[in-house]
Amino acid sequence: MARTKRYDVKDLALAAEGVRRIEWADRQMPVLAAIRQRFETEQPLNGYRISACLHVTTETANLMRTLKAGGADVVLCASNPLSTQDDVAAALVDEFDVSVFAIKGEDNDTYYAHIEAAVDHKPHLTMDDGADVIGVLHSHRREQLGDIIAGTEETTTGVIRLKALEADGALGFPIIAVNEANTKHLFDNRYGTGQSTIDGIIRATNVLLAGKRFVVAGYGWVGRGVASRARGMGSLVVITEVDPLRALEAVMDGFEVLSMAKAAEIGDIFCTATGDKHVIAREHIEKMKDGAILANTGHFNVEIDIPALKSLAAETRLAREFVEEFTLADGRRIYLVADGRLVNLAAAEGHPALVMDMSFANQALAAEYAVQNAGSLERKVYGVPDEIDREIARLKLETMGVPIDTLTEDQAKYLASWDEGT
Ligand SMILES: NC(=O)c1ccc[n+]([C@@H]2O[C@H](COP(=O)([O-])OP(=O)(O)OC[C@H]3O[C@@H](n4cnc5c(N)ncnc54)[C@H](O)[C@@H]3O)[C@@H](O)[C@H]2O)c1
Repeated sequence: MARTKRYDVKDLALAAEGVRRIEWADRQMPVLAAIRQRFETEQPLNGYRISACLHVTTETANLMRTLKAGGADVVLCASNPLSTQDDVAAALVDEFDVSVFAIKGEDNDTYYAHIEAAVDHKPHLTMDDGADVIGVLHSHRREQLGDIIAGTEETTTGVIRLKALEADGALGFPIIAVNEANTKHLFDNRYGTGQSTIDGIIRATNVLLAGKRFVVAGYGWVGRGVASRARGMGSLVVITEVDPLRALEAVMDGFEVLSMAKAAEIGDIFCTATGDKHVIAREHIEKMKDGAILANTGHFNVEIDIPALKSLAAETRLAREFVEEFTLADGRRIYLVADGRLVNLAAAEGHPALVMDMSFANQALAAEYAVQNAGSLERKVYGVPDEIDREIARLKLETMGVPIDTLTEDQAKYLASWDEGT
C-alpha cells in the first residue's frame, strides 16, 4: 500500500510478519470485527482525528483498523517503551496506512518525543492507557485542550490519575473510563493479566512454578487473576494487601495473607499488582532469599524500589534476556524481570486477543458515544454507559455460541414490584 503518513518504527521490512499476527489476533476478536463491519457502512467517526497511546500489539492494531473503518484519522504511539511489537508497528504503517510512532526499547526521550508526535496530530479524541497523552495536553499543550471532544482511558492507574485531575477542577475535557466497564476490568484485568503475567514470568525465567512460594502484592482485579493462575500452576500463593476487605477476601479464597515484611523472607517469586509505589522497598529486599525473582504487572515500574535494589547491589549483570541479576554485598542474588515494567507485555505478548476483544470493543463504542454526545458531556470522568457494557457482553456470548435465558414478562413484572409474591 502507498504510505501517506508520517511514522517512526523500527523496520518496515517486518510488516509481513506483523500482518500475519494481526490477522491471527483478529480471528479471536469477533466482537470488534462485528463493530468494524458496522463502522464501515455507518462511518460514525468520519472526519475525526484520534491520537491513541496504547500498547502497540496485534490487538491494538485491530482496534486501529476498526477506528479507521469508522472514518477516523488515527495516529498511534506506545504507552510503554518496552511493550511495542515492532512487526505490528511496521504492518500498521505499511499495510493499514496508520501513522505509528513506537519502537520497542526506545529510550525515555524518544518515548516522549513519540507522544508529542501523536499530540501534533491535533486530535478531536484521545485514547490513553496510563493517561500520558492527556498528561502532555494538560501540561505544555494546553492550547489544544479546547479542540478535544473527549478522551478514553484504558487502565486503573490512568483512571486514578484522571479522577485526581477532575477532583482538582483541572480536567480539560470529558473522559470515558473504559476500565470501569464490567466487560473490561472483570475480564481483561483478571483473566487476561492473570494468564499473561504468568506467561511473561515463565518466558523470562523458565522457572517451575509448582512448589514455589509465589507472593502477589495487591488482591484487586489483576492480583486475583495472577493469584488464582499461580495457584493453578501449583505455587503456594501468598497475598499482601493494605485494604482489609480485599485481604479478607483473599483469606476466604484460601490464600495465605502476610505483610510484605514477612512475605519477603519466604517468597521465591514476587509479583506486584497494586498501582502503588515501592510496594517492595529496600527493607524487604534486604530480607529476601538468594534467588528471589521480582516482577511487576502494575502499570508503572515504581512498584518495586529499583533504585534501592541497585544501590544494594555490589554487582549486576544480565542473567538472561529480560532478567537482570543483582548480587548483594553478602553474595545473595536477586533477579529483576523486565526492568520492573509490566511483565506480561515486556516479556510476553500481553493479553490474549479474546479478552482484548471486549476491552477494545469498549474503546471503539466509547469513541462513537463521545462523538454522538459531544455537546452534552462535561469535563468529568464518566463510566462506560451500561447499555454499551451489556451489549458487548451479549455480543461476546453470541460469538461464543453461549445461549442465555431472557426474563419473561411475568418475571420482569415480579422483579420490578415490591408486593408481588408476598
Ligand atoms: N499488566 C497489565 O496488562 C495490566 C492490565 C490491567 C491493569 N493493570 C494495572 O495493574 C494495577 C492494578 O490494577 P487493578 O485493576 O487490579 O487495581 P485494583 O484497584 O482493583 O487493585 C489494586 C489493589 O492493590 C492494593 N494495594 C495498594 N497498595 C498496596 C500495597 N502497598 N501493598 C499491597 N497492596 C496494595 C489495593 O488495596 C487494591 O486492592 C494498576 O496499575 C493497573 O493499571 C495492568
